[in-house]
Amino acid sequence: CGIVGYVGSDNAGSFLVDGLRRLEYRGYDSAGVAIFGGTSFSVTRSVGRIDALASQLGTVPPTGTLGLGHTRWATHGPATVENAHPHLGGDGEVVLVHNGVIENFQVLKDELIAKGYHFASATDSEVIAHLVAEGLKNTPETPDQPNIRYLTAVQWAISRLRGTYGLAIAFRDHPNFMIAARFGSPLVIGVGKGEYFVASDASPLVGRTDRIVYLADHQIAVLTPEGFSVLHRDQGKVRVDIRPLETESGESSLEGFDHYMLKEIYEQPEALRNAMRGRLDDENATAVFGGLNLTPQQLRTVERIILTGCGTSWHSALVGEYLIEDLARIPVNVEYASELRYRNPPIENNTLVFGITQSGETADTLAALRETKRKGHRALAVCNVVGSSIAQAADGGVYLHAGPEIGVASTKAFTSQCCVLAMLALYFGRLRHLSFESGKSIIEDLRQLPNAVQQALTCNEQVRDVAKKYQNASTVLYLGRQYNFPTALEGALKLKEISYIHAEGYPAAEMKHGPIALVDDETPSVFIIPRGTTYDKVMSNMEEVKARGGPVIALASEDDPQVQAVADDVIAVPQVAEFLQPIVNVVPLQLLSYHIALLRGCDVDKPRNLAKSVTVE
Ligand code: G6P
Repeated sequence: CGIVGYVGSDNAGSFLVDGLRRLEYRGYDSAGVAIFGGTSFSVTRSVGRIDALASQLGTVPPTGTLGLGHTRWATHGPATVENAHPHLGGDGEVVLVHNGVIENFQVLKDELIAKGYHFASATDSEVIAHLVAEGLKNTPETPDQPNIRYLTAVQWAISRLRGTYGLAIAFRDHPNFMIAARFGSPLVIGVGKGEYFVASDASPLVGRTDRIVYLADHQIAVLTPEGFSVLHRDQGKVRVDIRPLETESGESSLEGFDHYMLKEIYEQPEALRNAMRGRLDDENATAVFGGLNLTPQQLRTVERIILTGCGTSWHSALVGEYLIEDLARIPVNVEYASELRYRNPPIENNTLVFGITQSGETADTLAALRETKRKGHRALAVCNVVGSSIAQAADGGVYLHAGPEIGVASTKAFTSQCCVLAMLALYFGRLRHLSFESGKSIIEDLRQLPNAVQQALTCNEQVRDVAKKYQNASTVLYLGRQYNFPTALEGALKLKEISYIHAEGYPAAEMKHGPIALVDDETPSVFIIPRGTTYDKVMSNMEEVKARGGPVIALASEDDPQVQAVADDVIAVPQVAEFLQPIVNVVPLQLLSYHIALLRGCDVDKPRNLAKSVTVE
């Protein structure tokens, strides 16, 4: 979910709506704003995208110099107007927006209902609004310093919460005043001249101010048009650093493409060049990184690497496992971030933990990194968004420099992550056993990669025809081995995410132990079968599917008559070194899911139920 807030002398509405558009990647089930109009809040909420909210607000939105806004990704309660934020507390004296999850909301709700509070929504967030109202009721007036009373009420309310929150709260009877509070859900304060902003990340602030404060957990900020101050929940006033707002410049318009996903698929050759720029060192046949914050000596003693992430980033972590074990001979474990956090595995001392993340905001990945850090391990990030929560929480890391990724289905971030992981594997390898000659040939292979991806993109028309043929399938299997097993998983995820067709990725040989039962003449299998070490074995797996009447789409090297003789459709991919095959082979799979989704009339860039960045656990 996304939060925006404004206190100043300008009209709040335009900042709120623009800001919410920039936060839409965090969820787009429903959205709302509350603008203070002199005596009360005018609250506008709607189901669906920010566009729906904007059209409901009309050409003349409510005027006011203080306001809050929210875009939601539903947790408690479906996407309805009633469940959309902002929520009102008491009889409308409190208005708030909330990110996060309140675990004890039912207990608190029962308590508040018993006290006579009326609930208008099914959300956990509304509980906080009433709780603050209850806090106000129990806090005596402080006529000389009214702020204190409001602050005390909020402090009391949040002391009762179990769970996570990023909150922005305003008050009908105390205008020109806003409180923001953070625990486990990011919030930033934008520092302007005579105006202050709250947001769940820095993106809405770009162009409005270049000075920001990242709130830490347990911090509470008080904002008025005259200034702001920050307190720690238990320790009183704290000094905070005002930092320059660092943003990656990057075009975020469609530039003639029909969808961001397609544009981002086509941006991959350039994104790969950017990921490698300045990082390949021919003289030493290695890669160089500026921000790992580890000495070569420290890296030589690393005994294990854990790669963790969610969704597509978890798939690039799987590619990373093959890469690092192959090239650097360091044992690697790949963990779902959401599992790692609670599994509490024994971890050897000299272990590096890498969080892999496009957005740098995924709550599970952030929590997993924090947990491993707490236990004394170095937590690093492979991240795209500069200055994001994970980039800040990590001890060091590598940026992708892929530019903004807007389409919810991740494409260029995946290939850039694989590329960065390949360079990390090269770097670690060269500090250990990898020879100068091997290092040089890996660099050569990496250099050819952007052109190979460019060439892979030329299959677009052909993939569209294949998509037409299979658009009505209800299940699709994706099969590959070794480096192409994670590629199969990623191909299946892409199809699921945007076309809502059930798909499964499997190691090609493992398929005969279960999923082969799904094979019939209406269930296509996509085989990833470029020339390489397991080619003959995958060929046999492909025959097994054909023998059972299953249609086969093969991703094969150019001029492969053997595959052509068996598969129903063959998409040719350029031959690259085996360790780089996922980066090239995923391209036709991205295009296949794109075209199938389009043919089925799905919203490619904003598929149902998903969010670009999931900021709740
Ligand atoms: C969400 C997105 C996925 C993404 C995952 C991890 O679920 O819909 O596309 O792969 O989060 O995101 P991250 O930003 O951490 O890579």
